Amino acid sequence: MNYFIFVLGSNFKLSLGELDYCLKNSRFKGRIADYSANVAIVEFESLHQEKYYVNSLADFQYILGGVQKIAKVYNFIDIQTIQQAFPRKVGDFNRVKKARKRILSVLNSSLDDIFPNIQGQDLFYAVSIYPNFYDDEYYSQVLTKHFLPFLNKKIMSLLFEKGAKKALYFKYPEKNIKSGNLNPIFPHHVITYELLTENRAELIFGFTEEGVYLGRTFTADDPNFKKKIDEERPHKDFKSSISPKLSLILLNFLNLFSDRQHKKILDPFVGNGTILLFAFLHDFEIYGADARADRVKNTRENLAWLIKELDQPPLPNLEKKIINSDISQISIQFPSNFFDGICTEPFLGPFFKEKPYFMEAQEVIETQINPLFELTFRESLKVLKKGGKLCITAPIIHTLDGGEVKPNINAIADRMNLKRVPLMETNRIVNKSNDRLRFPLKDTYSMIDAKKDQIVNRKIYVFEK
Ligand SMILES: C[S@@+](CC[C@H](N)C(=O)[O-])C[C@H]1O[C@@H](n2cnc3c(N)ncnc32)[C@H](O)[C@@H]1O
Repeated sequence: MNYFIFVLGSNFKLSLGELDYCLKNSRFKGRIADYSANVAIVEFESLHQEKYYVNSLADFQYILGGVQKIAKVYNFIDIQTIQQAFPRKVGDFNRVKKARKRILSVLNSSLDDIFPNIQGQDLFYAVSIYPNFYDDEYYSQVLTKHFLPFLNKKIMSLLFEKGAKKALYFKYPEKNIKSGNLNPIFPHHVITYELLTENRAELIFGFTEEGVYLGRTFTADDPNFKKKIDEERPHKDFKSSISPKLSLILLNFLNLFSDRQHKKILDPFVGNGTILLFAFLHDFEIYGADARADRVKNTRENLAWLIKELDQPPLPNLEKKIINSDISQISIQFPSNFFDGICTEPFLGPFFKEKPYFMEAQEVIETQINPLFELTFRESLKVLKKGGKLCITAPIIHTLDGGEVKPNINAIADRMNLKRVPLMETNRIVNKSNDRLRFPLKDTYSMIDAKKDQIVNRKIYVFEK
């Protein structure tokens, strides 16, 4: 089975969109063969045939914003077997016993592949179960309370039977197991517990509607590195900053995967430079602008800080590349057909402490947001190369009395002859029966990035010149 489990970030649809877009357009060609709200099962066209494909997986993991871990799949158990072995209510003991035996035999044959040596070895493993959804009752009541302990104990016995000198497993806090409120180990723990070494493994059990894929983690994201850049840079503004993960996702939607050192990208609303810092880290040739001089200074200083942290030589011509300019002047400041991509989060409206009234939000959209997006599209069309992409976020404002208010971004783009680029194409993703998992029947041209209780959500769009 040449499948890989990709553990998804919290916004699973956006993570799937990013992953599929990269599988389609980057050198890591492949497709999503199955998915849930927590994992995508990926089949590569040829990556798995490379001699050192783990290095390519690590490279792939590094560019993705919405993927936490990648595991190689060793086996699959269909959902009926799991449900017979671990029913919600035990009735037919014989059936349970028979199904558990089938699971044991799968575990038995997989362990020889998962651990290159077992005989005489000291082994350690952590079992991580990723359900369809964390709020599934089957997860909190059955999988964490019965399947997890079963796996921990049985894997240990099997390893001893196969001659291991020692076999220990990661113990999750008992209170989390009892309450059913259990998170699999975080990506940074994979690194702390050294679970990428030969004798220490994270075993992932990734559920979809079809069954459970059994894998071993091969790469994990290093969120602390991103967090450090985000939090320790000299200038930050958490009220308006975009997250490192979302910055990476937006950059990937530019479809600029090769030769990034020679790809010129612009953020015309640079702020404190989050997008630009991550673009620099991912090798792009970066340009930025902002109407506020203090923001321009902040971005330059943040960049200087990052460059020093990375022990790299200073960037030449920074004063010409990160400039003080209103969006309306961008095409005067930069040559025509100059940029390979534009990646940005414009001003999304004032910072609301409380939900505004519908009329107030509507006025913000009409008087501030619509004109700003018109200008942004007009200027982008001039400075973008033909075929270049604009990846942009726009606001959705939740109001007290009238639901949500948002600008009609697609209408503005259509008027300007910017081509819409789908973030997920229907024919590239398998169908799911659960409504919460399913993508619309038509291609998806925008996706929401929302955190709980946010008054203003972001919507992500991609356009092509
Ligand atoms: C949402 S912030 C960008 C945040 C940035 N992506 C970050 O993560 O740090 C929007 C920025 O747009 C700038 N801005 C607002 N109106 C502008 C205009 N008309 N032209 C250029 N910049 C503008 C603001 O000064 C602000 O820094």
